[in-house]
Amino acid sequence: MAKKGYFITFEGADGCGKTTQSKLVQKYLEENGYDVLWTREPGAIGLGQKIRELLLHYDGDVAPMCEAFLFLADRAQHIENIIKPAINSGKIVICDRHTDSTIAYQGYGRGEDIERLTYLNNLATGDTKPDLTFVFDVSTEIAQLRVGDEKDRMESAGIEFHKKVRQGYLKIAKQEPHRVKIVNADNCIEDVFEDTKKLLNDFLKINP
Ligand code: TYD
Repeated sequence: MAKKGYFITFEGADGCGKTTQSKLVQKYLEENGYDVLWTREPGAIGLGQKIRELLLHYDGDVAPMCEAFLFLADRAQHIENIIKPAINSGKIVICDRHTDSTIAYQGYGRGEDIERLTYLNNLATGDTKPDLTFVFDVSTEIAQLRVGDEKDRMESAGIEFHKKVRQGYLKIAKQEPHRVKIVNADNCIEDVFEDTKKLLNDFLKINP
């Protein structure tokens, strides 16, 4: 049986800076000799890219549970084709958004039932769960400024929606403190990375 790797997810509201941090972590881990795969949801692979296009740019009506199922469909394919094989081959998989996005956005943001979404997340992912999750927390006002004026369908959902998403992430972190670590993302990129790195070193037992 191959050595099992780790699965680390990066989460937070739009404009929190998690993509930048996930790329910095990838570089840092590679410099420390780890074999890393960086990926993202939605839309890491062929079919997922089509789903991503619908989710972010379809301009007609989308029912909240239809939205949830599209994210879940992308996830099911992503887990099977990319994430699971990489973890099983001993890689560290860094994923920019995963199951907690569905709970924060479709659950706390859109108001869909959290337990039902958790059940559906479990169906989509089977026994592959994140070992560690970073939630980059930033005030909604700052995050919205970072997103700028060119917004996709999700980013255009309004400030009240994004405030609920932020609070949703904080609740998730409170419920699963062992897995989910909050990083204050109000600061500059370097400071946020220092905080992230400390938590990561702790988790992987890296002595800098
Ligand atoms: P993306 O451009 O990847 O945003 P970001 O760079 O902030 O990650 O778009 C993904 C959008 O989809 C983002 O607004 C969050 C949303 N989303 C959900 O609502 N539910 C989900 O399950 C996932 C994975 C993403």
